[in-house]
Amino acid sequence: MKSEFGLFGLGVMGKSLSRNLAQKGFNISVFNREVKGTEEDVAIHFKNSHKELDSAQAFSDIQGFVNSLQTPRRIMLMVNAGKITDYVIEDLIPFLSEGDILIDGGNSNYIKTKERYDYLKSKNIHFIGVGVSGGEQGALKGPSIMPGGNKEIYNLVKPYLESIAAKDDNNLPCCTYIGEEGSGHFVKMVHNGIEYVEMQLLAEVFTILKTMGKTPDEVADILESWKPKADSYLLGITVDILRKKDGNDWLINKIVDKAGNKGTGNWTTIAAAQLGAPSTLIASALFARYTSFYKDERLQASINLNINPSILNLEIEDVCNAYQFARIINHYQGLKLISEAGKSYGWHLNLSEIARIWTNGCIIKSDFMVELIPVLKEDDNILKNKLIINRVKALKPSINKVVSECVLKELTAPCLSESVNFLNAYATANSSANIIQAQRDYFGAHTYQRTDDNSGKFHHTNWN
Ligand code: 6PG
Repeated sequence: MKSEFGLFGLGVMGKSLSRNLAQKGFNISVFNREVKGTEEDVAIHFKNSHKELDSAQAFSDIQGFVNSLQTPRRIMLMVNAGKITDYVIEDLIPFLSEGDILIDGGNSNYIKTKERYDYLKSKNIHFIGVGVSGGEQGALKGPSIMPGGNKEIYNLVKPYLESIAAKDDNNLPCCTYIGEEGSGHFVKMVHNGIEYVEMQLLAEVFTILKTMGKTPDEVADILESWKPKADSYLLGITVDILRKKDGNDWLINKIVDKAGNKGTGNWTTIAAAQLGAPSTLIASALFARYTSFYKDERLQASINLNINPSILNLEIEDVCNAYQFARIINHYQGLKLISEAGKSYGWHLNLSEIARIWTNGCIIKSDFMVELIPVLKEDDNILKNKLIINRVKALKPSINKVVSECVLKELTAPCLSESVNFLNAYATANSSANIIQAQRDYFGAHTYQRTDDNSGKFHHTNWN
């Protein structure tokens, strides 16, 4: 019997998604290349290791795998993003038929997804770019899924993706058609950008509380007590992380302070710059990771410049408020970036639906995300919402205090600082940009608009 769905690539995510599909009762075929040095075929070994895969078909030859699938074939690629995805597509093409559907579930760059969509279209093969969030456990138990591509084609794979997805509070799948071509991967990319900031904010909060004299266990207790106001998956895992011991010490004290990355924060920052969207927190979180990597230089500079943060004088409640304030700005900026991309690329995006599928299964799921579903039904800009405006106003004095204290005591807090800095800029009626315009006109005759001329006309002055 032919299988209804194929999974290509049995890495961590591919394995989990295959098991998830099989557990939902789908007939699947799985493929993995033979790996040199392993005694047993990877795909066969995987099939034999899990009861739910009894009726699955396992392959290490591409032709056999493709031929085992019903047409139009639905093949989900779970391979490393980048060149490998192109190689795999080329390997598959000779065996595919017109109308077959390739689904890229990797963390692919949305620009590449747009290119692959067009390339495969020229060969009459359909392509769906799918963002999948949730890591290994999410993929197994229910990830958040962000598919982009042609809607009619998406409908042919929808039952599979929806049934393996996490469920929201109303038991609806955390999977929704995002929009045209690269939009699914774009939205996943911004998800990761928001994730970078949420992670960085928790790291900053930890450092602040540590510099107030708290131990990791005490910080964990404090974060735990914030759950009724600011619960999120990332807050929860940070509590677990801070409680983990290694011998007599906390494990966190033994982890080298150099943060890695796989590139999605970098892409988000590039996309924001290209689209003209001020996603300043994502850039700050990314650059904080890059700065962390200069470990040797940091060590040297801390001696040369005598930077040694002294005890912070803050109320814990202010730190909690500052954290919540910065999270609002993070979500505003991330969603704004998606909204700008929608306008630029002509994608028809529903931000409220995007927030809904981010309420479970994914890394940035949080109580705040649940709150944003109705807010985004009103407007893409969450900073226009009365309740949010009132909250921002109420939290503002705390972030002012926390950031000022960090600056005075020489403690770095890039995302907290940028959140208040951004809001101050965003809420400035008359900014200093008139000076920039005058400078541009002075040296480059770039012209400027005048406050006393509403026609929109551009003027030039002979400054000398
Ligand atoms: C997810 C994660 C996942 C991942 C990335 C980001 O949504 O499941 O975002 O995609 O953790 O690989 O990793 P880096 O921090 O290494 O860039």
